Order: sequence, then C-alpha cells, then structure tokens
Amino acid sequence: MTPETALFADDPHMFFPGPVDVPDDAMAAQLKPLFGHRSDRMDELFGAVQERLRKVFCTDSRVYLLACSGSGLQEAAIRNCVRMPHTGAKVVVLVCGGFSQRWHDVAAGCGRTVVKHELPWFEAFTPDVVAAAVEQANTDGNLDAVCLVHNETSTGVMHNLAGISDAIRSAAPNALFLVDAVSSLAGTEIRCGDWQLDICLTSSQKALAVPPGLAIGAVSDRVLERAAEVEGRGWYFDFLNLEAYLARGTTPATPAISLVQSLLIQLDRILEEGLEVRWQRHRHLRDFTRQWAVDRGFSLCVPDEHASMTVTTLAGPRGWDLNAMNQRLAAAGLAVGSGYGKEKGKSFRIGHMGELRIDDLRRLFEIIESCTG
Ligand SMILES: Cc1ncc(COP(=O)(O)O)c(C=O)c1O
Repeated sequence: MTPETALFADDPHMFFPGPVDVPDDAMAAQLKPLFGHRSDRMDELFGAVQERLRKVFCTDSRVYLLACSGSGLQEAAIRNCVRMPHTGAKVVVLVCGGFSQRWHDVAAGCGRTVVKHELPWFEAFTPDVVAAAVEQANTDGNLDAVCLVHNETSTGVMHNLAGISDAIRSAAPNALFLVDAVSSLAGTEIRCGDWQLDICLTSSQKALAVPPGLAIGAVSDRVLERAAEVEGRGWYFDFLNLEAYLARGTTPATPAISLVQSLLIQLDRILEEGLEVRWQRHRHLRDFTRQWAVDRGFSLCVPDEHASMTVTTLAGPRGWDLNAMNQRLAAAGLAVGSGYGKEKGKSFRIGHMGELRIDDLRRLFEIIESCTG
C-alpha cells in the first residue's frame, strides 16, 4: 500500500474481536458538519447507505439501521418475531458460547418462552443437530423462531449458515431463522437472500470497521408478517414502525448522523474492494493466524471445520505466561482479546477482521514470539 492509499496514519493496534481500528477517513467523516435529520441531505445519506447495505448483506429486502449496539437488535428480533407465552409460542436459542447465552437471556428477559439447546463451548451446531432440536421443539407447531449466533466471538466457532437454514426450513417451515452475524458480516460470505435468513443482524464496530454505536439488520417480509401478530413489540424496536418510516426514506427517531457518515465511507470501501475479495482476504488472515499458531506450539481451541474467519482462540504452550505477553504487547501499543468469560486467563483471542492485512498480523506475531524466548 502506498502512503497515499494508506488506510491508517498510525498502524492498527487493536487485535480484539471488536471494536477494531477504523480507517482514518471513516473516523474523520464523523467530524463533518451536522445537518437536520428531517432534511434532504439526511434523506440522501440514508438512501445511499440503504442501497449499499443491501449489497453488503446480499439481500433485496430492507436493512434497518438503529442507534444502539448489536444487543439492541438481538432484543428487537425477539420482540418482533416471538409471540407472548399465552399463545403457546416459543423460541429455540442455540447456545454454545457467551453471546448465544446472551441472546437466550435477552429472550427470557423479554418474557418469552425459551427452549435452550446447549452445546459445550468450542463446539458447533451442525444442520442435523439443529434439525433434531427444532423438530422436537415444534411438535405442537408453535415454534415461532430459532436464534443462532453465526460466529461465536467468545470461542471462535463459525457455523454453516446455509445448511442450518435449510435444516430449519424443512423441520419447521413456519419458524423464523434469526441470525446474529455481529462478528462475521463483511468478514465472510453471508447471503441473506439466497440463504433465506429472516433476520441477519450486526454491529458497526466489527468487520465493517466503523466506530461502535450502530446496529444494522436485514429483515425479511416473513418477519413483518409475524410482527403484525405479535403483541408487546414496544416502540423503539417496532419493525412495523421502522418499516413505515423506511418507506418514506427515513427513521422514526433521530439517527446517529455522524456514525452514518462514517458507515457510508466504509460501505464504499467494502464494495470497492469487492465482497468476494474481502471474504477471501479474511480467510487468508484466518489461515495465516492458525498456521503461525501451530508452528509456534500454540493450541487451536476450534478445529478447522468450524474455525471462524474473523477471530481465532488460542491456548499457550505449557508454561506460557499470558500476563507477560499482554504486558509486552501493551508496551508496544498493541492488544489482543482475553479469553471470554469463563475462559479468561486460560486462552486469548486474536481478532483478524475489518481492514487488517497480513503485515499487521506479522507485526503482532513478532512481538508475541519475543515472549516465547
Ligand atoms: C456474536 C456477538 N453477538 C452480540 C454481541 C453484542 O454486540 P454489542 O456489543 O454490539 O451489543 C457481540 C459483541 O461482541 C458479539 O460478538
């Protein structure tokens, strides 16, 4: 990359699985003068973003943009797609790590009947396992939705979305398939339309490489049909309200205008790179990280077939001093993610998403290697 096309004046320093370093021009876009949110300029910005989001989510349907983090859309998905318990309705949540556990807690917190199907951390749901769980939960025909975290950021497990979507459609055709792609959207292939994902939600601060604060979700027509039958959708997250405003090219509440300006820069960058090229770049980052780890005696916490394209969890060789590594990295101005939740102190996570390149990983690995003596 020549200095004129460099994305960052200072090299990226965050190798977390989000938030990630945001290119300078996308950071600077937040400093542009503001304008009214009921203005032609906002309508123009909103329209430009909507058109690009549909391309990045690979969908012909709508993409909602909300001023909140991704957890907000986890809650919105439940509020709009799952009817209240007195109707007999329920939702299956597939849990295999910290963020799928959160979605379970969100659904329970919204007062819905939740069927939890759980696997040990670092394991992945296969289409067969999901089909069996869904069939079992739908014997009364009252299964409203199935929630899956595509890329479990807490473990580094990534699921076969297309296969699981087919399995759910066959086992329970009326159940909506709700997907959290918070740490994978724009970092690996996700085709919301072709794969019939009813909701696919993400956060701005991960593979999109935008500052935190926006939640973005592609939503199918089936979701809107369901929402019309659901009581207690609330207001801020009511998809029917969002839809009515979207039809007029705007939002019910004040959008996070500065963040949307930043998002536009990144969407243009992503489309200019090309989706397939971007997905391939992330695959290279993943493969490079895993090969380096094996060569240096680290253990991979997730087997190849379920390995995430955007985050790799590693455990050190015997006698490995995690604290010393973190101190050495901090002294160089760099950081990796710690083990998540119950994994804290046992493993660490390398985020390789957004605008990172192989050379950035090389800089990181050199410092980690200096700790192996
Ligand atoms: C897979 C996944 N889901 C949900 C969340 C929560 O997203 P947010 O922090 O944007 O609310 C995260 C955050 O890291 C995540 O990785």
